[in-house]
Amino acid sequence: MSSCHDTKTTCVGVMDDAHALERAGHDVIHMEKGEPDFASPEVVVEAAVEALRAGKTFYTDSSGLPELRAAISEHLQVSDGVDVPPSRILINSGSSPALLSVFLATCGPGDEVVLPDPAYPSYRRLIELAGAKPVFVPTREHGFRFTAELAAPHVRAATRAVLINFPSNPVGATATAGQLRAFAELGPPVISDEVYRGLSYTGAPDPGILQVRPDAIMLNSFSKAFTMTGWRLGFTVVPEALLARMKTIQQDGFVCANAFVQWAAIAAVRNADKIVSGPRAEFARRRDTLLAGLTELGFAVPHPPSGAFYVFARLPDGHHDAYAFAAGLLRTAHVAITPGPEFGAEGAGFVRFSYSTPAERIGEGLRRIRAFLTQPDSSRR
Ligand SMILES: Cc1ncc(COP(=O)(O)O)c(C=O)c1O
Repeated sequence: MSSCHDTKTTCVGVMDDAHALERAGHDVIHMEKGEPDFASPEVVVEAAVEALRAGKTFYTDSSGLPELRAAISEHLQVSDGVDVPPSRILINSGSSPALLSVFLATCGPGDEVVLPDPAYPSYRRLIELAGAKPVFVPTREHGFRFTAELAAPHVRAATRAVLINFPSNPVGATATAGQLRAFAELGPPVISDEVYRGLSYTGAPDPGILQVRPDAIMLNSFSKAFTMTGWRLGFTVVPEALLARMKTIQQDGFVCANAFVQWAAIAAVRNADKIVSGPRAEFARRRDTLLAGLTELGFAVPHPPSGAFYVFARLPDGHHDAYAFAAGLLRTAHVAITPGPEFGAEGAGFVRFSYSTPAERIGEGLRRIRAFLTQPDSSRR
């Protein structure tokens, strides 16, 4: 059996091994996945079917359907109180191609992007694809809390942007408006990845960067809060000065997002609050169960998550190698998790648990982890 340890660059190893075990007839608990387990909203499915039947199968404007951009502009006004004209909203096939476009448009060789460690692994690879250098800000000593104060010493002449992500992957951290404002005031352009926005458990709406810095680059997606990962749809708010460059990259590199998916997304935006409240409530319950269970088993969670659907936990005493632990847990207990170093050097000795799996499966996963930990050799390295 292979493990992430073999490649060190991606955790496809864990997922491949988990799927191989399933094909061999084993019951695997999936706590490694970065996507919600809920079905996509019925109202959106209906709208997509309708759009297909109505023949919405042709290219759209490269920047996106005017109707969808207008709906998003209205939504931003109502939910965040920000005034973003549809002309500054670009529709793309998820935030991943949007991230690539943003890095290509904003930086190149000799340039730097400041971002936290740990962070979503694709950031590093996409920044490097654009020829620029990721400059990681260690956060572990600060309980994995990425703040403007920590970022400030890393900002210099070569810095083209500071990249933030709240609620965050893998830590599940959220930010207050004051914390976002401090990033806004650092000076360099701010790229804010808000794909987990809406999935926060603080009891208050989570703030967005545009509320404190109108010229920020803001990426969002229908993948997470709208439970639409496979539809591949997202949107980016771009400052006026960057529009022409972003549009060229979008047009030449991606043409446009799927037409009927864009039509369906109008229904998603119009029903946003109703759609997002269900997963948010269920995730909050699961988070409480998982946090309590992991703590009881000896995992330490320096930053209990207030958003997204991940718990970033330190291995129990006696365990040091996150890759060996994840591989051992999968092999013997059939529970799939992600080794912390996948998200950066600061993740050594940590693992990420995703609670995008039903509560009873989380309960079963915890039982299996307990049994694994009491084995004489549970990869104690
Ligand atoms: C922080 C973060 N940003 C972006 C993405 C990409 O999401 P998508 O391309 O589906 O919008 C992910 C996916 O896991 C993520 O965790």
